[in-house]
Amino acid sequence: MSHGPSHRPSTPGASSARVPAARPRRLVVGLTGGIGSGKSTVADLFAARGAAIVDTDAIAHELTAPGSAAIDAIRAEFGDGVIRADGALDRDAMRERVFDDPAARQRLEAILHPMIRAESQRRLAAAEGAYAMLVVPLLVESGGRAGDVDRVLVVDCPTGVQIERVMRRNGLSRERVATILGAQASRAQRLAAADDVIDNGGAADALDAQVEALHRRYAQADRCESS
Ligand SMILES: Nc1ncnc2c1ncn2[C@@H]1O[C@H](COP(=O)(O)OP(=O)(O)OP(=O)(O)O)[C@@H](O)[C@H]1O
Ligand SMILES: [Mg+2]
Repeated sequence: MSHGPSHRPSTPGASSARVPAARPRRLVVGLTGGIGSGKSTVADLFAARGAAIVDTDAIAHELTAPGSAAIDAIRAEFGDGVIRADGALDRDAMRERVFDDPAARQRLEAILHPMIRAESQRRLAAAEGAYAMLVVPLLVESGGRAGDVDRVLVVDCPTGVQIERVMRRNGLSRERVATILGAQASRAQRLAAADDVIDNGGAADALDAQVEALHRRYAQADRCESS
């Protein structure tokens, strides 16, 4: 998995066999991080620089909107109790249903994950932009890159800061946020899976320079890709 520049010195005769592809496959960066770490904030900064952003959370919401593709299958599996009157997935009810029932969570994921993955691939293939960024909140929890992404970019911040931000944004108690965090990968597990890291433990205006530096590398890696 190397995306470094591929400017090898060309040897006359030997290089003629390596004809560059007309349209190199676009670099796909997987953007992940714990709840409230700053993924959406960071994705917006990359988008402003021209990266194509595909957000798996947004896709999951669309697939479970009223009358959407996943609703019939979820209703068949879990009953009317997890479907709202308007026909959308009742996310709170579903969360409660799978909270301490791993088998139920697996059944839900068996419905949603293949659909999310197919739609992500479709959007990645259709997207314009120098390179693409696939936002996958639970990328580390779901077993890593799984061939869908070329690099893993982790938005990192100290757990205490993360808890404060989520409490403020969602109006949740410290205990509730701690429970959510407990069901996610640890900070160390996420960092161990990272190719690149953005430090979002400080002020939001510290993000720009970090995003800019990575953006330049990603855009460059895309142009240099030769397979
Ligand atoms: N550096 C920062 N300083 C202060 N607040 C921040 C900073 N970065 C993000 N925030 C705020 O913290 C909250 C979480 O950020 P954001 O929504 O980008 O995280 P996320 O990883 O996308 O969250 P989720 O996992 O829920 O999708 C938001 O309210 C955001 O405005
Ligand atoms: Mg987000």
